[in-house]
Amino acid sequence: MTVDVYLTPTELDATLRAEALRGLTASPKYLSPTLLYDERGSELFERITELPEYYPTRTEFALLCENAGEIADTTATEVLVELGSGSSEKTRVLLDALAPTLRTYVPQDVSEAALRPAVRRLTAEYPEVEVHGVVGDFTASLAHLPAGGHRTIAFLGGTIGNFAPTERAEFLTGLAAILEPGEWLLLGAGLVVDPSVLVPAYDDAAGVTAEFDRNVLRVLNDRFGADFDPDLFVHRAVWDADNEWIEMRLEATRAMTVHVPGLGIDVDFAEGEQMRTEISAKFRLDRLAAELDAAGFTVRREWVDADARFVVIAACRRR
Ligand code: SAH
Ligand code: AVI
Repeated sequence: MTVDVYLTPTELDATLRAEALRGLTASPKYLSPTLLYDERGSELFERITELPEYYPTRTEFALLCENAGEIADTTATEVLVELGSGSSEKTRVLLDALAPTLRTYVPQDVSEAALRPAVRRLTAEYPEVEVHGVVGDFTASLAHLPAGGHRTIAFLGGTIGNFAPTERAEFLTGLAAILEPGEWLLLGAGLVVDPSVLVPAYDDAAGVTAEFDRNVLRVLNDRFGADFDPDLFVHRAVWDADNEWIEMRLEATRAMTVHVPGLGIDVDFAEGEQMRTEISAKFRLDRLAAELDAAGFTVRREWVDADARFVVIAACRRR
């Protein structure tokens, strides 16, 4: 089993520190979604994927199962790099279909707690594939990904929606820059759906998403010695129809001052003040294809489910 730690704990701490400081001192306040994923956050995300209301994971999984053969024929992948791979649960269907050509699988995630067990399990299950885990930040450490072989970068789950539009454009351009012409991006993205379906997916009846959201405050407590009381915040899921994204927000139930000694700041919250903890953009096919085109990719295949809730795209790096 190989897990390379390209993002050392110190580097990760510095990155998260800078992001947390920027967001907590901004007006309105916001946090980077990367902060959601400590060990507990990764576990809570896995529980979200099993909720009846959270359709993206099972919809994408069904698309991968139905179309794995075509994905394999289209991409003829020798090296599969997966960014934000988490538990790699859905990826097995790809590993099975790609078996005739696949030599190496490189899962990459910022959450070492999610990555290590996945690498251990897949190494045992796929002895003929070299499984090489990389702990890293997909916005910063793409240069550490392996060169050579006919590569496909998989970015699944709709995580592309967690970037703000400008960051997303930079990220896609960065992906195109590390790929050779003829190599592939396999992208999973959530589509614009009715808010009556979308909002419950981000505010489930069992309260797991609320716990996932509030966990970010525990992360700030653990990392930066903050004294957030997560019980004093409620989770909100808000559909922004203009931007076509859903936001997770934490709302302060009363006025308070939170001390964050690790960042050297005190943060005041007014009663009812909301802090954004994630955006999850939903896409329209034509606009997403245009964004990929602008970044240097040509969309070759699109697989959409019958309810038009999710798309898996195979996009080729243009010459
Ligand atoms: N791809 C999986 C997991 C999606 S959850 C799926 O489809 O189910 C989002 C994943 O991205 C988490 O595992 C989280 O740890 C990871 N992640 C979040 N921010 C990241 C970053 N900046 N760099 C690398 N991984 C990140
Ligand atoms: C990882 N990402 C695609 C998830 C999403 O749907 O945006 C994270 C998540 N947030 C709330 N529920 C799940």
